[in-house]
Amino acid sequence: MGKGLFITFEGLDGAGKSTQIQRAKEIFVQKGYDVVITREPGGTEISEKIRSIILDNNNDEMGFVTEALLYAASRAQHVFEKIKPALDDNKVVICDRYVHSSIAYQGYGRQLGAERVMEINKHAIDGIMPDLSFFILLPTEKALERLMKSQRELDRLEVEEVDFFKRIEEGYNEIADTYDNIVKIDASKSVDEISEQIKYWIDKKGF
Ligand code: TYD
Repeated sequence: MGKGLFITFEGLDGAGKSTQIQRAKEIFVQKGYDVVITREPGGTEISEKIRSIILDNNNDEMGFVTEALLYAASRAQHVFEKIKPALDDNKVVICDRYVHSSIAYQGYGRQLGAERVMEINKHAIDGIMPDLSFFILLPTEKALERLMKSQRELDRLEVEEVDFFKRIEEGYNEIADTYDNIVKIDASKSVDEISEQIKYWIDKKGF
């Protein structure tokens, strides 16, 4: 394996991941690294095609195992075609979501279980786990508050969707306590406070 660094960002939407990913890129560029930014599901042509199948609203009959396998298939191509070669080339790869998303969404959200989801992903990740993952999280109540606020005009939020969302948040917290190299960050902090924490951890890790 190369000497590159693999950094991932996780959390529910609206947590400000994209801004922080850009800021993390600047931190690494200043340190003299070559940086590749990518995302999941997607990141390569084939992976993006799989993404469109996963996210297609017409595919409402999709089973949860199929969904988990498709995320894993998209990831397998991404690791093979983009992530691994960049790491072998000593680059810093910053990825918006990775396997922790599958554990949180499919494992906890869809209730397939974390172990089953990791088993499904074993071949996809090819032994590559992040050197550092930032979980930008809100306490469930606050996250729900934000969600309610943002959807007030729609005036509809099914109980099932709220429970799904709750399970994902809980999942992320459990994952952060179980797996290595994960830093939890409170998404209710300001953008600057969050990026300061990110810089602190990048420095602390000696990158
Ligand atoms: P993303 O591109 O982050 O969505 P958005 O641009 O809306 O933030 O991811 C698409 C959705 O896929 C998002 O709801 C999270 C979900 N997801 C999973 O359920 N499992 C996974 O393994 C990944 C990577 C994403």
